[in-house]
Amino acid sequence: MQIGSEAHKELFIRTFREGHRRYEPKDLDWPELASDELALLRGLPFWTHALEFESAAGPMIRSLAATIDDREIREALELQAYEESRHADLVAFMLARYDLPFEERPLEAVENPLGAFIHFGFEECLDSFGGFGLFKLARDSELLPEGIFAIFENVMREEAQHIVFFVNWFAHHQAQKGLPWLRGPRGLWHYALAVAQLGDLVRGGEDEEEGADFIATGAKAFVDDLSVGLVLEACVSENERRLAGFDRRLLVPRFVPSLAAAALAVLDRLPRRRAAKSTESSRRVRAPRG
Ligand SMILES: [Fe+2]
Ligand SMILES: [Fe+2]
Repeated sequence: MQIGSEAHKELFIRTFREGHRRYEPKDLDWPELASDELALLRGLPFWTHALEFESAAGPMIRSLAATIDDREIREALELQAYEESRHADLVAFMLARYDLPFEERPLEAVENPLGAFIHFGFEECLDSFGGFGLFKLARDSELLPEGIFAIFENVMREEAQHIVFFVNWFAHHQAQKGLPWLRGPRGLWHYALAVAQLGDLVRGGEDEEEGADFIATGAKAFVDDLSVGLVLEACVSENERRLAGFDRRLLVPRFVPSLAAAALAVLDRLPRRRAAKSTESSRRVRAPRG
């Protein structure tokens, strides 16, 4: 299939529309949590980031949709805006339901919706890559009830849909302008940002200090003796699993997963200098509290 063709556009829009599910956050089956489970959730470092990221996304994407002449692309963007606003509602509902700490930050006005959406899309590819791995590590730890993961499975599934929609939309958008879809300066710049952020993730895995990347910091809540290898391995395998079900003719995000897989291969070949911290002991998820 020719990337940028009408058939390509029809396929990535249909895939996205067919992945949409109806639900309201307040109607989901929110479990009661024990005090140690609440303490674990309250200690996670990303509630402010999650609420801010999701709250800003819906209005930004809606403002881009309003500028698009192509009806099918406009409606797909409106659908993504709806799903992002529902993510914000879901996070807000959870923060209130379990009294979790967060900082309310004012939304910034969007001056350049197209640029903002492209930046957001690359950021979503990176955040989803880390988020999928963190979600797997957290779920395997059994430190929180499965009901919480069943609720957030909706978000993970939708984020996979969003990043596949985004990379195909971006390729189509570039092709329409006669530009190569991954080699334009804009794509390179965003990928450079992604590499820098991946560097933060890797450093965060070794640095216990404040300011470590939220994915690594979050993962530490669920896994004893966390290693960079363990986090990357979960991210790479979960990313593969969640993207495997998409139509093979579509593009899927490859750059960050490939970098991470390369980093993993290097880590596997390094001498085991810090034997106590590496492999076997680090591959155990924390035992569930009884
Ligand atoms: Fe979202
Ligand atoms: Fe999203």
